[in-house]
Amino acid sequence: MNVWDARFKKAADARLNDFNSSISVDHRMYAQDIKGSCAHAMMLAHEGIISLEDSLSIITGLTQIQKDIESGVLAIDETAEDIHMFMESELTKRIQDAGKRLHTARSRNDQVALDTRMYALDETDKILTEIKQFINVLLDKAQENLDTIMPGYTHLQRAQPITFAHHLMAYVEMLKRDLQRLQESKKRTAILPLGSGALATTTYPINREMVKEQLDFDSVSLNSLDGVSDRDFCIEITSALAMLMMHLSRLSEEIILWCSWEFKFIELDDAFATGSSIMPQKKNPDVSELVRGKCGRVYGDLQTLLVMMKGLPLAYNKDMQEDKEALFDAIDTAHLCLTTMIPMLESAKVLKDNMRKAAAKGFINATDCADYLTKKGMPFRDAYRIIGALVSYAQDHDKTLETISLNEYQQFSELFEEDIYEAIALETCVQMRKVIGGPAPEIVEAHIQKVKEELGAI
Ligand code: ARG
Repeated sequence: MNVWDARFKKAADARLNDFNSSISVDHRMYAQDIKGSCAHAMMLAHEGIISLEDSLSIITGLTQIQKDIESGVLAIDETAEDIHMFMESELTKRIQDAGKRLHTARSRNDQVALDTRMYALDETDKILTEIKQFINVLLDKAQENLDTIMPGYTHLQRAQPITFAHHLMAYVEMLKRDLQRLQESKKRTAILPLGSGALATTTYPINREMVKEQLDFDSVSLNSLDGVSDRDFCIEITSALAMLMMHLSRLSEEIILWCSWEFKFIELDDAFATGSSIMPQKKNPDVSELVRGKCGRVYGDLQTLLVMMKGLPLAYNKDMQEDKEALFDAIDTAHLCLTTMIPMLESAKVLKDNMRKAAAKGFINATDCADYLTKKGMPFRDAYRIIGALVSYAQDHDKTLETISLNEYQQFSELFEEDIYEAIALETCVQMRKVIGGPAPEIVEAHIQKVKEELGAI
């Protein structure tokens, strides 16, 4: 049975109904659909479009339906076309004619746009909270590792000494931008489309401002064609989530490397690692690998939305029904990855000694060695060449910059004195980088404090 049956001479083919139905995807918006319908019904009565009595029975009926769904008394009929049609038919079953009046001055086109926006706003808030929790875990780990020296890398080659705190704070900055982007997207999501009707509003004297206030939206859409067919907000949120996933995936890649025997910089808690079905010794970082893998899904969701929209004439087209599957998948994936990564990272053990040992190899203090000569007056490029030759010499003689004797140093430059050893100590290299954004413990600690203050404001 479809509401439009009177218009057609034949019943819909079962295959058409199955193909057309979106309830398996959009049933999760039942609470938003009910909230939006209650606000609409209240406004209709306020403006004298329906009676107060009908409005009240719609609101009580919908509230009861919500209770029944949530207590398991009422199962959502998966054969219905979508959540909006299911609600109307369930309500009409319960309150008869009053239920049939709910759709006055409304179309499913503005209704679905409203529900999707409400759902997106609710979920964005949850993701914002989860990102903040993630940032807090990173801040705590950074605080505990202000002095934990590790090699910093470029090209995945040991490059210069940094601290684990400094490394983690890079991810804090990325996640802060993710927070800002999602927060920003809310402004353009909280624009009320209801009242746009199917495409050209309505002749009823509806009060859109009242519905806007009721639903706590920021503003009302100013063009009805755009109101029903704007899906920028879906694209914007999914794009912000794609970028969030990119950050989680980069961190995951590092965690995978750090867990390997080649690095052994961290040890995952047994509760957040997996074994192998054949190799008894294995301890695998599956969570991180899955996050890295799932990042691709969200990129795919973004692509789905962009391509879905690019050729659509105004206004609503059924193609747009595909928006929810992509948007929901991006939201679900972000939730899943954040809520699993948070405890995984929280419980991971940092193997400080291994980081320190890795930092001792690879001549990562070579820049500081060149800077030593530069600070004594030698032009940097000359100093750079000398240290290049020194590194080559050290490698040939199986030495490090720490174990080369002063005599050997002086054969490369007369400027070397006893204080070279202090100057190239890894602790010195880190502590001397006191520039804003640098790894010196006092700088990173100040950064942690600043983020804690900023988080309160986001
Ligand atoms: N299930 C539809 C969707 O998600 C609701 C809107 C249907 N509108 C229509 N004119 N068929 O887009």
